[in-house]
Amino acid sequence: MVDLTSFAARLSTSHLARVVVRLRDVGSTNDVALALSKLEARPGLVVTADRQTAGRGQRGRRWASEPGDGLYSSFVLRPNLRPTEAAAITLAAGLAVHAGLQSLTPVPLGLKWPNDVLVGEPGHRYGRKLAGILFESVAGADAIHHAILGIGVNLRVPHDPALAPFATGLESLEATTTEPLHVLATIANRLEPELERLERSGLSALCREWTEHALGIGQSVEVHHPDHVEVGRFDGLSSDGNLRLTTPRGTRTIHSGRLSLPNVPFPPKL
Ligand code: BTN
Repeated sequence: MVDLTSFAARLSTSHLARVVVRLRDVGSTNDVALALSKLEARPGLVVTADRQTAGRGQRGRRWASEPGDGLYSSFVLRPNLRPTEAAAITLAAGLAVHAGLQSLTPVPLGLKWPNDVLVGEPGHRYGRKLAGILFESVAGADAIHHAILGIGVNLRVPHDPALAPFATGLESLEATTTEPLHVLATIANRLEPELERLERSGLSALCREWTEHALGIGQSVEVHHPDHVEVGRFDGLSSDGNLRLTTPRGTRTIHSGRLSLPNVPFPPKL
């Protein structure tokens, strides 16, 4: 196991991940981080675990979290943003996780709206998922009281045969490291400036860059809602980071839903 000295040597942040809580077994690192946030934990603190017994993904899906298969980490944030702007944190984090992981592998990676990092090159299991983000917050009308940014990165393809066809791992992508703490430091180094830029300059530059790495722009896509599916052309992001979908009835912005891209395996709800 990598020691904290080598982790600290890789870290170039001023506050993010400067305090690390390392756990062996946990339900969900997001829950521990939220509990610590409520106890006035320092912003930037990160909780990381070898294994999660109740790891969760977007829309209540489970996130397989066996020891050795992944990096399971959650940051306590104190964003200087209004509650209505909180969704932008997911996009900023996606950009940072993409850039961090891309610096570890020569295989091109892409972003899938709103929060997935996938393999972006056809020859390398195109569209398989490498990382996901789960941002959760407790907010009042005017302020975000608690903000937890959970990041899961596959170091290896998950053992679960039901997940394996939809996933990849750093180990399969010629990565320079698969050490969880090295991967964490790499991500934190990108995340801190990205979140600062979001607070300072808003979403527009971020959306432009996000779009440069997005998979499926200009293509015909499906957006799955609980009770219906919309089909249209993916026309990039709106200024507030939502998905622009053009159908014969016009262009509208979509705030939530599961995006299905052509030729990208679309996992069933497990
Ligand atoms: C997704 O793509 O659906 C989001 C996956 C987020 C998984 C991470 S692992 C660390 C943190 N703890 C959780 O329970 N979930 C997030």
